[in-house]
Amino acid sequence: MLRNFTLYVEKDYQTMSQKAAEIFAAAVNLAPTGAYGFATGSTPIGMYEALIKMHKCNKVNLSAITAFNLDEYYPISASDPQSYQYYMRKNLFDAVNLPPANTHIPSGEAKNPLAECIAYDEKIAAAGGINTQILGIGNNGHIGFNEPDKGLMATTCYIPLAEATIDANARFFASAKDIPRHALTMGMHSIMMARQIILLASGEGKADILNKALRGPITTNVPASLLQLHHDVIIVADQPAASLLN
Ligand code: GLP
Repeated sequence: MLRNFTLYVEKDYQTMSQKAAEIFAAAVNLAPTGAYGFATGSTPIGMYEALIKMHKCNKVNLSAITAFNLDEYYPISASDPQSYQYYMRKNLFDAVNLPPANTHIPSGEAKNPLAECIAYDEKIAAAGGINTQILGIGNNGHIGFNEPDKGLMATTCYIPLAEATIDANARFFASAKDIPRHALTMGMHSIMMARQIILLASGEGKADILNKALRGPITTNVPASLLQLHHDVIIVADQPAASLLN
């Protein structure tokens, strides 16, 4: 049984992306200078394209928001095309005139990653907390880079990546040795404090983990299952990803 969730099942990736963009735009239009949480991965790209189109025809104004990204590889240079810094500029920020000073991503170049994590949570708090957080879901149930484990971290943290995640993301890197083994990620409390969460899932490959996350027991072995404890989660999935949910 699905509890606490608002579920939209759209016929394909394109309509799913459009629906997610409309929900997100409605939140931004209510609070155009608020803080918003962004995700990377292949799933949100269509939503970002739809948002850029809406921005161009004045249906949403993203230029005054403050953006906080979930995570970043560590170490990685901000100019590396595989960095999430690069991804966000290319797929969204540059196209919506969001000043770099309004965008925050844990730095893969930080000399002291632990200090970077503490400073990141302080920045989110100083911005008044996140209004709406966009999330994807990893094949292993991770959100951000909170990997399945016996325990999860509450605050932004420096963590080793799971082998499954390294394998899943290998497609983006020239060779296996180029893939960073660590990341900085917002922790579970940092994510769960968002007032609203939009979880995106696309494709048959996500059907099993989405079903486990939404209907299975709450367990740190499936970090996304903790979303069952949040009061306002909107799931936007395409039919293949939602195929086991009924
Ligand atoms: C990545 C990111 C996550 C993302 C997930 C799914 O590693 N750290 O934030 O949600 O994996 O990625 P994809 O959308 O490509 O399946």
